[in-house]
Amino acid sequence: MITVRPAKQSDAAAWLQLRHALWPEGSEAEHREQIEQFFAGDAGEPLAVLLAEQGAGCAVGFAELSIRAYAEGCSSDRVAYLEGWFVAPTARGRGVGRALIAAAEEWGRSQGCREFASDAQPDNEVSAAAHRALGFIEVGLVRCFRKDL
Ligand SMILES: CC(C)(COP(=O)(O)OP(=O)(O)OC[C@H]1O[C@@H](n2cnc3c(N)ncnc32)[C@H](O)[C@@H]1OP(=O)(O)O)[C@@H](O)C(=O)NCCC(=O)NCCS
Repeated sequence: MITVRPAKQSDAAAWLQLRHALWPEGSEAEHREQIEQFFAGDAGEPLAVLLAEQGAGCAVGFAELSIRAYAEGCSSDRVAYLEGWFVAPTARGRGVGRALIAAAEEWGRSQGCREFASDAQPDNEVSAAAHRALGFIEVGLVRCFRKDL
């Protein structure tokens, strides 16, 4: 049995563990700080966090969501955006990711968005397959650049 609900303060430790597994390049302290900012209402992003639980309250996945004014391939200027999507390895392939996306879509609609967008690393074939299986259409492949100013 999978339940998806908005993350609450008492989920901080579970969310941190899952978040760090998805983005290991960030330190635990950095993740903790971002989580604290989110619950304090000081984070610009994410705007919403959904947590998936399996069985008796065991957190096995999350989705972080925002609203972007521009997203590749989209025509509206208020696009619900999947900033982070993760399911613990032992819980994959059983519909948890699907349940998170269904709840994320519901959240997007509730925010007045009529498009939902996402991105993935070019070599993340599992993510690409999962996106397609859930109705996303691939709209482009971009290269990202930066420089110091
Ligand atoms: C992507 C991810 C969130 C999917 O979670 P999941 O719980 O395994 O997904 P589900 O079991 O709900 O599967 C959803 C759909 O994706 C497809 N899918 C999932 N894993 C797949 C795989 N390894 N290969 C091909 N298709 C796959 C399923 O077929 C399913 O479609 P179906 O219901 O029509 O069969 C999970 O693999 C993950 O956390 N990956 C590592 C982090 C990551 O890459 N996140 C995305 C960053 S953009």
